[in-house]
Amino acid sequence: MGEKQGLVRGVFDSVADKYDLMNDLMSAGLHRVWKRRMIEALHLRPEADLRLVDVAGGTGDIAFRALARAEKLNSTLKAQVIDANAEMVRVGAARALREGINQAGEPAQVDFLTGTAEALPLADNSVDVLTIAFGIRNVTHRDVALRESLRVLKPGGRFVCLEFSHMPSRWLQKAYDAYSFNVIPPMGGAVTGDASAYQYLV
Ligand SMILES: C[S@@+](CC[C@H](N)C(=O)[O-])C[C@H]1O[C@@H](n2cnc3c(N)ncnc32)[C@H](O)[C@@H]1O
Repeated sequence: MGEKQGLVRGVFDSVADKYDLMNDLMSAGLHRVWKRRMIEALHLRPEADLRLVDVAGGTGDIAFRALARAEKLNSTLKAQVIDANAEMVRVGAARALREGINQAGEPAQVDFLTGTAEALPLADNSVDVLTIAFGIRNVTHRDVALRESLRVLKPGGRFVCLEFSHMPSRWLQKAYDAYSFNVIPPMGGAVTGDASAYQYLV
């Protein structure tokens, strides 16, 4: 395992249980708005039968939201969350049961698998929609991950990536950096007990 991969794994091992709470705290709830817009960008069709794979899907946020949207459209969606970190997968699978998305003894609406973006455990041309939210920056070999995405997507399938970018204004960027470097690591330390994990994430 490369150095970055090992670091990333350690970070998410240590924050998995508090990951969802920290997302709300760090972004003051804004991540919900960004994720809602991502779901709109999937352009799910009404009355369709679709397979969605959420890569680096963590605790399942994107898959759960896509399932709720598909239900509104009267579409059938089978979702799979694939994440490199077994702890995040464990927390996500427990959350799916707790929120009633999966029910014991019933076929799962969303499956959670451990695996990496660079070696997706999926057949060629088998996926309608592939999502990756706040994940691509953690991937060591992005070129390989993008080739894998293309391999598993059906012709005409959709790839939708949600990620941070740079601020258009220098002043906004300064304010954002000050917040990121001075507030997020201590906040992460107070909530998860691991400030260094949030130092890495920033
Ligand atoms: C910031 S979290 C995003 C989780 C989720 N997509 C969300 O938006 O809430 C990043 C996730 O990427 C996963 N990850 C990091 N490197 C990965 C890789 N090479 N392949 C798959 N998942 C990876 C981590 O384990 C972590 O769960």
